[in-house]
Formats: sequence, C-alpha cells, structure tokens
Amino acid sequence: MTKHVYIITGASSGLGAALSRELLSQETQVLGISRTVDKEIQQLAQELNANYAFIAADLTQVERIEATLQEIIESMDSSKVETITLINNAATVTPIKPIEACSSDEIVSSIQLNLTAPILLTSCFIKETANWSAKRSIVNISSGSGQYPASSMSVYCSSKAALNMFTKCVAMEQKEEPNPVHMLTIDPGMMNTGMQQIARESDFELSSFFRKQSEEGHLAEPETVARNILLELNQHRDVTPA
Ligand SMILES: NC(=O)c1ccc[n+]([C@@H]2O[C@H](COP(=O)([O-])OP(=O)(O)OC[C@H]3O[C@@H](n4cnc5c(N)ncnc54)[C@H](OP(=O)(O)O)[C@@H]3O)[C@@H](O)[C@H]2O)c1
Repeated sequence: MTKHVYIITGASSGLGAALSRELLSQETQVLGISRTVDKEIQQLAQELNANYAFIAADLTQVERIEATLQEIIESMDSSKVETITLINNAATVTPIKPIEACSSDEIVSSIQLNLTAPILLTSCFIKETANWSAKRSIVNISSGSGQYPASSMSVYCSSKAALNMFTKCVAMEQKEEPNPVHMLTIDPGMMNTGMQQIARESDFELSSFFRKQSEEGHLAEPETVARNILLELNQHRDVTPA
C-alpha cells in the first residue's frame, strides 16, 4: 500500500540516485525521472519488493514536461496517499566558460534543465494535486553557487539564484492556501558525484579549487547528504502547518 510518493528528477546518478535508494520501501512509491535508467536501483527495488518506477524524460524538452507529470499524477489513487513530494534535483553545471564563449544552445539547454523544468514541474504539481488531502511538498535542490558568483559559471550560478527566488515567491503564494504545498530549497554542499568530476576536469579558474576539495576529502558522499535532506524535509513538514 502506497502511503508516501516521491517524484525525483535526476534519479539516475549522484544525489538523485542516493535519495531514491534511501526511500525504497513497500510503503513508498518512488518515481525517478531522467534520461537514463540506473539499473542497480531497479534491481534493489525488486529485491526489496519496493515500489520504484523509472520515467525516461529529457527535461530540456520543456514542451513535454507538463504532460509527463500530468500522466504520473493522474495514474495515482490520491485517497491512499498521505504525503507526496516533488524533488527538483536534475541539473547541469555546464557550460563552464566565459559567457561569450558559450553557444546559444548550451545556454538555453542549461537554463531549461536547471530553471525552466523545476518551474514547470512546480506549477503542474500544484495544479494537479490541488484537490488532494495529502501533505504536499516541493524540494528544490539549490547550490552555494546560487549565492556566490563565480567566473565561467555564470549560467549555473544564475539558474540556482533564480531557483532560490522562485521557491521563496511560491512559498508566499502557498501560505494563503488551505492545504499549502511546503516549499523548501536545500543546498546539498559539495558532493562526490559526476557533477564535481566535470567541475574539477574543466579548464577554468576554479578547477584547481575543486580538485583540492576532492584530494583533501572534503566532498560529502551523496548517501549521507540524501539522509540529511530527508530528515530536514520531515522536520519541515512537521513544523509547517498543513
Ligand atoms: N555535486 C555537487 O557538489 C553539488 C553541489 C551543490 C549543488 N548540487 C546540486 O545537486 C543536484 C544533484 O547534483 P549531482 O551532483 O547529483 O549531479 P549528477 O551526478 O551530475 O546527476 C545529475 C542528474 O541529472 C540528470 N539529468 C541531467 N541532464 C538531464 C536532462 N536533460 N533531463 C533529465 N535529467 C537529466 C542525470 O541523469 P541522466 O544523465 O540519466 O539524464 C542525473 O541523474 C543538482 O541540482 C546540483 O546542482 C551539486
């Protein structure tokens, strides 16, 4: 029986995969959205008899996002769900270059994945679950880059700064609602994932800083971060009146 539903973007690697693994259980339905599947999670879900589904989607194809989420939500029996959470986690750190060296396609595709997709998913999630009695939450995964400017990372930093502001605005809107959606932004800190590898292997001003963080063991494991995020989410749900 499904009591808790988590829709997680970027579930095939790094933090998204760690969150998915952490949540696998019979009472929780995990819906992972990304372009590729993590077969290990599917295997683990089978072993645990857990409720996991992979949805293949390229979130830079923004015109398809609403229909994808609508289909997911319409397939659920809302009367059986106690909590439903959307975790906007998928992102790209590229392009890592001065802005004039980035192509239009690189800029647009990065903004589509990092900002337009979470905005569209948030809008659709709130609309499609409007009549649900379940506790509803949206977690937007941010970054220190949303606060601290960095050369060659202008597109990534700007997308995360905008995501922070977007989350605050929607939280204000939701305060007025009878069953508000709990809005949360979480900066996971630097983690040992593919995204960090791209940052330290790129040719730019900060790559030596990122290499040093890795060499000196300052990167958190995504599993540890995932557990802390889920704790923070549960505490937030408990203190914010539904
Ligand atoms: N790693 C860090 O140090 C760090 C620090 C601060 C904040 N963050 C934030 O934490 C979150 C997770 O980062 P991570 O390090 O776990 O990243 P990651 O290992 O690079 O994983 C990114 C995930 O996003 C998915 N993705 C990429 N492009 C996509 C697309 N076009 N459509 C759908 N899914 C797509 C990838 O799956 P597919 O390739 O299968 O599509 C993958 O599952 C991000 O929001 C990131 O900005 C990370």
